[in-house]
Amino acid sequence: MYVCSCFGITEQQVKEHADAGACTPRQIASASKAGTDCGSCVRRIQALLGRGSCPRRDLADQGEPALSAAVPGPSASASASVPAAASVSGLSALREAA
Ligand code: FES
Repeated sequence: MYVCSCFGITEQQVKEHADAGACTPRQIASASKAGTDCGSCVRRIQALLGRGSCPRRDLADQGEPALSAAVPGPSASASASVPAAASVSGLSALREAA
C-alpha cells in the first residue's frame, strides 16, 4: 500500500528504510523523498516508525552512520539528502514531525 502518493513510496519501502536505520520522517525523506512534496504522508510515516523503538538511534548518537545506502529509493540521487525541490509544506510537515 502506498504511503506517499507523491513519490510512489510504499509502506514496505518505509519499513525497509527503517530497518536500514532511518528513525525519523526526516531520515525517511532523505532516503526516499517521501514527505517532501505535499507533506500529507508525514504523519503516516511517523506512525509507521513508531515511538521509542529505534535500535540504530544509538549508532547515530555515537557518530556512526545510521542509514544504509542498500535500500533502493525512487532514484539513486535521492539517497543523499532532502531534495532541493522539496516543497515548503512538505518541509514544514517534516519539521513538525522531527
Ligand atoms: S504524499 Fe508524500 S509528499 Fe505528498
